[in-house]
Amino acid sequence: MSDFESVGKVDEFEIGRGKAVPVDGRMVAVFRQEDGSWHAIDDLCPHMGASLAEGYVEGTSVTCPWHAWRFCIADGTWEDNPRVKVDCFEVKVEGDEVFVREAPPADPA
Ligand code: FES
Repeated sequence: MSDFESVGKVDEFEIGRGKAVPVDGRMVAVFRQEDGSWHAIDDLCPHMGASLAEGYVEGTSVTCPWHAWRFCIADGTWEDNPRVKVDCFEVKVEGDEVFVREAPPADPA
């Protein structure tokens, strides 16, 4: 069972935008949503390595800033080909601090 790692204070995350943070030696894109939910996926776009945290967020989709591949920030699915996924991470907020679980949950499939 992996541990949650602190990635900063709630106020450091802009609502409706992504932010790349280091978690256990890799970059993770954390998204703070207007409805109070939080999501985190691998920051590295599997196409050519752009930062998905820099992408345009609309609902639960983020559009890669380089070539517009779209990913679901809730589960990491590439929306144009759902068989492809990037890793998805658990986020929790305690008080004013944000935590991300280091390793992605095991794929039940
Ligand atoms: S690098 Fe993300 S779509 Fe090309």
